[in-house]
Amino acid sequence: MNAATAPVSPAPVWDVINGFTSYWALSAALDLGVFDALAKEADTGTGLDAAQLAAAIGAVGPGPVTVLAETLVALDLLTAVEDRFHLTPAAERFLVSTAPASMAALVRYSPGPPNAWPGLADTVRTGAPEPTVTADLIELYPALVRATGPTQAGVAKAVAAELERRGWWPEQPTVVDLGCGSGAWLTGLLQSRPNGQVIAVDLPNVLPIAEQAATDIGMRDQVIAVAGDYLDVTLPVAAADVVVLAHVLRAEPTDRAQQLLARAVELAGADGVVVVVDYTRPDPVRNGIGEDGEDGGGGEDRSSVYGAARHELLLSLTMLASTAGLGVTVADLRSWAAAAGAELVDSFEPVPRQHVRLIRSRTPEATS
Ligand SMILES: C[S@@+](CC[C@H](N)C(=O)[O-])C[C@H]1O[C@@H](n2cnc3c(N)ncnc32)[C@H](O)[C@@H]1O
Repeated sequence: MNAATAPVSPAPVWDVINGFTSYWALSAALDLGVFDALAKEADTGTGLDAAQLAAAIGAVGPGPVTVLAETLVALDLLTAVEDRFHLTPAAERFLVSTAPASMAALVRYSPGPPNAWPGLADTVRTGAPEPTVTADLIELYPALVRATGPTQAGVAKAVAAELERRGWWPEQPTVVDLGCGSGAWLTGLLQSRPNGQVIAVDLPNVLPIAEQAATDIGMRDQVIAVAGDYLDVTLPVAAADVVVLAHVLRAEPTDRAQQLLARAVELAGADGVVVVVDYTRPDPVRNGIGEDGEDGGGGEDRSSVYGAARHELLLSLTMLASTAGLGVTVADLRSWAAAAGAELVDSFEPVPRQHVRLIRSRTPEATS
């Protein structure tokens, strides 16, 4: 059969439908405590058969548990040896609720407010979700930021080490953390500089979480907590050694995102650095050449570019479903930085999928 007559497979469509089912299989397994039950047996190496697993999670019998467990094997979240189920290394590290890098809470909260999704078509048509959806997201933020805290703490520590390597991390830094969430960034940074000070900004319903995080490490006195919209609250200009914008730009509509980056540049002044962490969408192609420098002319197939950015695109869509944010591209960051008299000076990926961009004011020499 040649290519022209080969049947077109419906597999991509089924993959999407099955994505929904897979998500709920994982959610149910977490709700039932499947991974935690298997973790208790991990030391013995014997695993559990369906009847034992059913007993461990309080299910009525092995039948439904077998279907769920076999599906989890197919999803690479469990393994099966004979009739016994075991954790995969990924499940042991990321799905057991007590694991330090557990993503169990993130599975629940990462998709944002559940009512955002049935309205996505209207959101795309009208350009913004129903106000009630955005209100639900704000209500969800405390749980969401708690769930992302462990990952962000790791990124913050890696960024402190990188700033130190570059000589941009003074002994007593002043940090401004815009949209500080769980406080993972401010605690991660303060632990590397116990004499530093952080101005932490977030919405009133979220800020107490960051304050508590600072209290928990005995550094509450070094944190000035400012409740309100990060574009409106009063903050000292050109006083920060480091301004953190971690996972905030993509949730803002373009005009507000640009204003926020400009504000961060202003707070950092001539000598500070703005640290942007976000899941960036691919740059657009303009005049044949992508802003990332790629030649997009001559009918170049861009499909592989978007395929490679699947994770970032789906997270941008998650934001679009519940905010007026369109995600952010590196081209956006470059042009917004340039408009604010700054430039993107470097990028690195200290933790998989966590891309850090460093933006600094243009020095007089650099602009001349
Ligand atoms: C995805 S979380 C990121 C939290 C933190 N920067 C991190 O990376 O872990 C976005 C944060 O921005 C905060 N936020 C959203 N809109 C805000 C606004 N207008 N002013 C201040 N904070 C805001 C949210 O409450 C939330 O804590």
